[in-house]
Amino acid sequence: MIGIQEVVTLAFLACGPNSESLGIKLSELLRTKRILVESRLFTDGESYLRFTGLLEDQDLVIIQSCYPQQDKKLVELLFMLDAAKELGARKVIAVVPYLAYARQDKRFRDGEIVSNTSVGKLLGAVGTDVFLTVDVHQKESLKSFRTKTINISAVPLLADHLKSLGLTRPYILAPDQGASANAQLAAAVLGADHTYFTKHRDRITGQVVTADRELRLEGRDAVILDDIISTGATVANVARIVREKGAERIIAACTHALLVGNAEETIRRAGVTDIIGTDTVPSSVSKVSVAPAIANSLRQLL
Ligand code: R5P
Repeated sequence: MIGIQEVVTLAFLACGPNSESLGIKLSELLRTKRILVESRLFTDGESYLRFTGLLEDQDLVIIQSCYPQQDKKLVELLFMLDAAKELGARKVIAVVPYLAYARQDKRFRDGEIVSNTSVGKLLGAVGTDVFLTVDVHQKESLKSFRTKTINISAVPLLADHLKSLGLTRPYILAPDQGASANAQLAAAVLGADHTYFTKHRDRITGQVVTADRELRLEGRDAVILDDIISTGATVANVARIVREKGAERIIAACTHALLVGNAEETIRRAGVTDIIGTDTVPSSVSKVSVAPAIANSLRQLL
C-alpha cells in the first residue's frame, strides 16, 4: 500500500511517516508550502521512501518522531536526512519530537551499549546540520551529538493547559529528582507548590520503587509531571502515595505519552483522573500541541 505524507516547504518541511499531523500544524504556523513524501513497505517489510519535490539548494526541515516503531522510524529518519543531502538540500534540520534511545544515555552496567551516543553519531554521519528535539530525557546527553542540537521544553505549554483546568491549590510532583526542574518550571507558571519523590529502578527487572514521604494534600489537587510515561509504573507509584494523603484530583502530565501496553489502565487504577500528553507522540491523550514551540525555534533558524 502506498502512503502519502504531506511535506512542507520552508524552505521545505518534510514530514516523515510518523509525524504527518504535527508537520501539517507546523506548516500552517510557518505558512510554508507543502510537498509530498511517498512511503510504502516492500513485501519483506523494508521501507521505501521518495521525496516528491525538488530539494536542490533548499533549506530543509525533516520532521519524524521516533515512536512507535523506534528502530524503523529512526532508520527512515536517517535515510531521509542522508537522501536530502544527496539530492542537493543546503541546510538540513532534523526535527525529532520524541527521540528514541534517549534513556540509554549512560553505561549503567558493564558492557552496556550507550545507544543514545550511537544515535547522535549516526545523525551527524548523514549530514544533519541541526538536530531539534523536545524534552530530551537528559539535556547533557545531547553533548555527545556531532551536530548542533536544540532541546525545546514543552513544560510551559503543559503548564498553560493545566492552568486552564482550574485546579484547586495544585501541588506539582516530580516522580524522581530528574523531573524536579520541570516540576519547578510548571509550578512557577501555575503559582503552585512543587516537590519531588525518590525513585529506584531495578536495572535488571525494571521494577520501580518509590519512597513514601511526608506531604499534606488534603483538599488539594495533585499534578504528577514527568517527561515520559511508558509503562505507567512510575506515575502509578506516586498516584497511590498521593491518594493516601488525601489529594482530590490526581492528574498525570507528561511530554511523551508512550503508554505501553495497559499503561493507561495501570495509571487510572492508581487513582489518576486525567492523563495529559503532547503530540510529540500522537495518542488518545495528546491534548497539548508542541507545534507553536517548534515553530518559534525554527523561525530563528531559517
Ligand atoms: C525515567 O526516569 C523517566 O523520566 C520516566 O520516569 C520513565 O521513563 C517512566 O517510565 P514508566 O512509565 O515505565 O515507569
